[in-house]
Amino acid sequence: MTIHEIYQSMEYGPAPESAAEALAWLVDQGDSFGHFISGAFTEARSDFTARNPATGEVLAALTQANAEDVDQAVAAARRAYPRWEGLGGHGRARCLYAIARLIQKNARLFAVLETLDNGKPIRESRDIDIPLVHRHFYHHAGMAQLMESELPGRRALGVCGQIVPWNFPLLMLAWKVAPALAMGNTVVLKPAEWTSLTALLFADICRRAGLPDGVVNIVTGDGTVGEMIVAHDGIDKIAFTGSTAVGRRIREITAGSGKALTLELGGKSAYVVFDDADMDSAVEGLVDAIWFNQGEVCCAGSRLLVQEGAAERFHERLRARMDKLRIGDPLDKCVDIGAMVDAAQRDSVAEMVGSSTAGIRYTPQIALPERGAFYPPTLITGLTPSDTLMQEEVFGPVLVSTTFRTPAEAVALANNTRYGLAASVWSENINLALDVAPKLAAGVVWINGTNMFDAAAGFGGVRESGFGREGGWEGLSAYSKADEKTKPLSPVTPFTGEPDRPAGGGAIDRTAKLFIGGKQARPDGGYSSDVYGKTGRFLGQAPLANRKDLRNAVEAARGASAWSRTTGHNRAQILYYIAENLATRADEFAERLNAMLGGRSAMKEIQTSVERLFTYAAWADKYDGQAHGVPIRGIALAMREPVGVIGTFCPDDVPLLGLVSVLGPVLAMGNRAVIVASEPHPLAALDFYQVLETSDVPSGVVNILTGRHEELAPAMAAHMDIDAVWSFSSSDLSAVVERESAGNLKRTWVNNARTRDWAGAAGEGRAFLEAATEVKNIWVPYGE
Ligand code: NAI
Repeated sequence: MTIHEIYQSMEYGPAPESAAEALAWLVDQGDSFGHFISGAFTEARSDFTARNPATGEVLAALTQANAEDVDQAVAAARRAYPRWEGLGGHGRARCLYAIARLIQKNARLFAVLETLDNGKPIRESRDIDIPLVHRHFYHHAGMAQLMESELPGRRALGVCGQIVPWNFPLLMLAWKVAPALAMGNTVVLKPAEWTSLTALLFADICRRAGLPDGVVNIVTGDGTVGEMIVAHDGIDKIAFTGSTAVGRRIREITAGSGKALTLELGGKSAYVVFDDADMDSAVEGLVDAIWFNQGEVCCAGSRLLVQEGAAERFHERLRARMDKLRIGDPLDKCVDIGAMVDAAQRDSVAEMVGSSTAGIRYTPQIALPERGAFYPPTLITGLTPSDTLMQEEVFGPVLVSTTFRTPAEAVALANNTRYGLAASVWSENINLALDVAPKLAAGVVWINGTNMFDAAAGFGGVRESGFGREGGWEGLSAYSKADEKTKPLSPVTPFTGEPDRPAGGGAIDRTAKLFIGGKQARPDGGYSSDVYGKTGRFLGQAPLANRKDLRNAVEAARGASAWSRTTGHNRAQILYYIAENLATRADEFAERLNAMLGGRSAMKEIQTSVERLFTYAAWADKYDGQAHGVPIRGIALAMREPVGVIGTFCPDDVPLLGLVSVLGPVLAMGNRAVIVASEPHPLAALDFYQVLETSDVPSGVVNILTGRHEELAPAMAAHMDIDAVWSFSSSDLSAVVERESAGNLKRTWVNNARTRDWAGAAGEGRAFLEAATEVKNIWVPYGE
């Protein structure tokens, strides 16, 4: 081709990256790999292969772990754990720094190997994946260094089982390994079976960085190996990134095991374009949102919502841009779209797209390579919001699109999904964009941009996109725990006495009811239970709520969403008012509590309860987010948002203080509450709603039920309109709450049948505030 012809066509010539070094590294390893356990590779078996999806060529033979391999890896991690944690923050920081350095020094080898194994364009592995990987290790070297001073009272969880997917093999490894190691944990990691190679190169780097043996262990294999890790008794925490279906299964398997869990799952993220957006930038952003990594991205902007007046214009430009996309050899530096990870994934995308005939499809006339797992960029317009392709994650280069008229409709459409991972908002009106961002149900919102990531800003979702954050300060709590001593919690049983003795002294019968939607409500089932004091004296009856009462309470709480939009100042005022009214009735409450519990310490419990309400009134306008200095021209705003509707089972042994201790943070952070009071001592809660009635608490914000915890727990945990369930009951609810929560992947906080000192420091503070909030990172770039 002559220069003149090149100027005519403006075609890019091929610019292939050499695979020689990466292939030589594979040869050096004997083209086959065992597991990396206790600082050494085990003998390789040839159970399955790593293939280059762009060519189908075999890259290496790999070993499927069996139960014995997993046992050995876990044992190695357990052995290494005390010394690794004991090494201290600085010692760990040095190791993480060495790893970061070595990854940086071998960046091109990692990038080429990733591209060979995964099919992603070298431009992306070289410029995005690998730089973010070493950034993550550098950042967390700093977190290890700062742990003792900035996270006092926190310590490691122990051994973390980490299971990563195939779309960002090394990056997902880094997101999991770096914070785990920084906080003093050791790990057993399993890469996805299609993409194990960079994890094995990373193992080699760990060895060269002088990481103590057993701190990082890597076992290879398919989902059955993942499941062995999930079910292993020697593991304290599971961190998983992958499909929602597997995430849900992991939630069920780990229920009641006491293992900590974070899940980073799928998404169907909205890409919202207002008619005043900079259209060319928005089109270019969209290329990045949906065709980056062949659309195999959990936070891909796969659902385009364009304002009606601009839709035709926007789609036209988008189609013109699609015509120019270059698809082909991922090692070619001029390629935009590489190969999908495996022919099976390409086929599943094709099948999903083929399963629906709705809408108008557009694929540009670009030739696909003759071999390899390639799929063309695809745009489908004119779909209704309920279409499967609008609702389900395709996980391929397929964009679906619809239109909206008003900002409110944009928000409603964007939120019309069970997922909640990410969203992009495009508008030149920053006020509009910043108004829309908090209304979107998503863990990350990018304004006039997309796919911005950094170790300093947490990443993770809400709803069925999972829970927990990776990166940022908030990501560290998923890898550490409070260093406190607890004891086994035995069930608190109610006192017994003679049935139906009159309340005494010819007093008028007080009919305690449930408190639902701001009103006192008789229990649907029409049953109550007798309540006796320690001496056997009959004190009254408490209604027994059933699942219908629960349903009504949740409906009331859902309806009270305005509470979540009130200011912290207003919420503080109401919490102070509750405290004031409780203090006014202190004598009456003390008498009731002393009669129920048979002690004399009620005044102390009331005093602590009033103090606790003050604490949360204080926090209501002070538990702020952060502004992260991320390496773009811009800022990432980590906003703390309410979780939504939180259901709680109160502690049984401290009937008033327990209730106040869960109610305080829930209200302070803008959530609505469905509270199940102490089962053996319910009467204090029923007196307490009278306090609420006189404290300007809006209807539906707090709903109080009494009844049998074990009966209500499955219904509460399975309820699709509850966003989180906390259980501090002395009944054994932890397993059922965690298992039943898998339906909508609600957040859970359970006591695992361990005590908590409700009167002391463990009964209040940041742990509660954190559980009552979700962090949303809103990225706001600067400049023209
Ligand atoms: P997957 O969820 O099955 O695989 C992810 C990881 O989990 C792999 O390491 C796999 O070996 C492991 N795994 C599989 N079953 C397991 C089990 N029962 N217990 C423990 N670990 C298990 O994802 P898959 O099948 O590779 O992809 C299917 C779909 O999932 C994709 O089309 C996409 O929609 C979604 N996906 C989403 C990802 C995300 O980042 N959100 C990543 C990968 C897949």
